[in-house]
Amino acid sequence: MNEFWSENVQGVMTLYLSRRLRFHDRFFERYRKTFGLDGTRELRILEIGCGPGALAESLHRWYPKARITGIDRDSRFIAFARENVPGVEFVEGDAARLPFGDAEFDVTVSYTVQEHIEPAVFWGEQLRVLKPGGICLCLSARKALRCTAPCLEITEIEKEFWDRVPQADGWLERNGVGAYRLSEAKLPAAMERYGFSDVTADYALIHLTPDAKDTAPEMAEAMIEAARQSDLEAIRSARSAGGERAASAVNARYDERLRLLRAGIKQWDTELSVTMIVRGRK
Ligand SMILES: C[S@@+](CC[C@H](N)C(=O)[O-])C[C@H]1O[C@@H](n2cnc3c(N)ncnc32)[C@H](O)[C@@H]1O
Repeated sequence: MNEFWSENVQGVMTLYLSRRLRFHDRFFERYRKTFGLDGTRELRILEIGCGPGALAESLHRWYPKARITGIDRDSRFIAFARENVPGVEFVEGDAARLPFGDAEFDVTVSYTVQEHIEPAVFWGEQLRVLKPGGICLCLSARKALRCTAPCLEITEIEKEFWDRVPQADGWLERNGVGAYRLSEAKLPAAMERYGFSDVTADYALIHLTPDAKDTAPEMAEAMIEAARQSDLEAIRSARSAGGERAASAVNARYDERLRLLRAGIKQWDTELSVTMIVRGRK
């Protein structure tokens, strides 16, 4: 039973809800062009470090003929994905020792995972399980621009809560989290060095603004709920006194944000994130 990530780094809903937005169908066209996959074929796709399964869920919709497998070593993520993401096989296991034979997959894909696994192992294992000519898609979250609505500014109650939480400086990195992060220049170069050819690098801009004209009301609410659940999970995982009071303050902020949205009173809070997509061929 491994719950390291969901206990200490990011919770189930933090990942699942934010990724459902970043891999929403409205952005598919943007990803489709760069992925360059033949959706008419019965591809076997492996998602490395799939977390609670939101990207795998989108891939299943986008490539209905494909057979998709997701692997992650966090037991809680895999349990959630098995229960909530039909049509995809989820395996609990280590990306450093993939429990698959050589040349089983047409495509390997990952999102925000490369930086946590030693590069020779990360790409070496993907090269091994890919068929000759298979495609590796390494997706990486780069810079983000965030602007908060005034009603979502953190409250004094929450600030006091966070001031009481002990800071474990460097603890996550010592446990491998973000330990192998590569720059925009080094990431594609590393893929080439570890054996991939025809390497390309592209960027997708994912724009999430609840008040934007082209944001559907359900999606606007989903953006606000995703942020709420992320704040609530962060408080829960701090396991510190005063969590209930801080959580009430969080709920009050987001309830107000929803009220303003439904009343049509614009706040223009926004999140722009840049996803780097590095693609290579075995
Ligand atoms: C930032 S999260 C991203 C999860 C998922 N890709 C998403 O975006 O929702 C990194 C994920 O990599 C997983 N992970 C890290 N090292 C791993 C390893 N050696 N084997 C399998 N999974 C690993 C973690 O458990 C976590 O789910």
